[in-house]
Amino acid sequence: MSYECILTETRGDGARKTGLITLNRPKQLNALNDQLMDELGQALLAFDADDSIGCIVLTGSERAFAAGADIPTMAPHTFISAFKSGLISKNWETILQVRKPVIAAVAGFALGGGCELAMMCDFIIAADSAKFGQPEIKLGIIPGAGGTQRLPRAIGKSKAMDMLLTARMMDAAEAERGGLVSRVVPADQLLTDALAAAETINGFSGPSVMLIKELVNLAYQGPLKDGVAVERRYFHALFGTEDQREGMEAFLAKRQPGFQHR
Ligand code: CAA
Repeated sequence: MSYECILTETRGDGARKTGLITLNRPKQLNALNDQLMDELGQALLAFDADDSIGCIVLTGSERAFAAGADIPTMAPHTFISAFKSGLISKNWETILQVRKPVIAAVAGFALGGGCELAMMCDFIIAADSAKFGQPEIKLGIIPGAGGTQRLPRAIGKSKAMDMLLTARMMDAAEAERGGLVSRVVPADQLLTDALAAAETINGFSGPSVMLIKELVNLAYQGPLKDGVAVERRYFHALFGTEDQREGMEAFLAKRQPGFQHR
């Protein structure tokens, strides 16, 4: 498959590899237009369906992960055209169908839809150059891809209100303090560290990895009681797998486990 707005490749030499997707509209700071979002959706679903892939890393350039939805494309819209065409909803949520972990490796600007896209990934590793923001208010609009909902869940109401209402950017250190990103690394180490995290995940049992993703999303999105109940059932279910036997026998025998399931 050849794409115009993204680059895709496979990294790693273990039994399971990492699918690497790089947003690639450098002149527009990776602004997210329809074509890019369609291509991104296709690439994500293709990696998700590929049994040789364990994990996906999504990244941008040194200057920008993505500076938001594409403003020239949005500018002419009216309420009716935005509503009828499903602006944003049409191809922005494909990423939420992916069952394997998606790690965002963010350097430079992650603004508006760029910040929202990073928040739709399972966790964010930030370069020390990263800058996050939801500046839509400066354009006379509001976030349209989950920013008002995911940002307060990630960093709390006060910081989210501050960022959404003042349009100020948050640097990588503040984003880590606030819990938006899992770790901050030197910019020149970003991809290496994100791929190393993916490699670690690739070594674990696939069903455990996919269930953890599903359950953490349930914790994030749904009521606690339901999440804990579903977690208990899946916890029990994993005792029916060879990987549970192997994992525990390896621990007791003080050797490395060799998981079978992808
Ligand atoms: N859409 C399209 N093009 C964009 C863009 C965007 N979101 N952001 C930047 N660009 C383009 C600029 O127009 C410019 O193109 P030209 O060279 O052809 O003029 C190029 O990228 C470089 O940008 P700047 O010259 O502005 O670079 P800078 O370093 O001075 O500033 C910036 C960088 C702070 C990111 C600034 O470009 C900026 O503020 N961009 C807009 C950010 C924004 O408002 N994002 C939210 C969009 S709305 C949205 O995302 C809705 C949603 O929820 C889904």
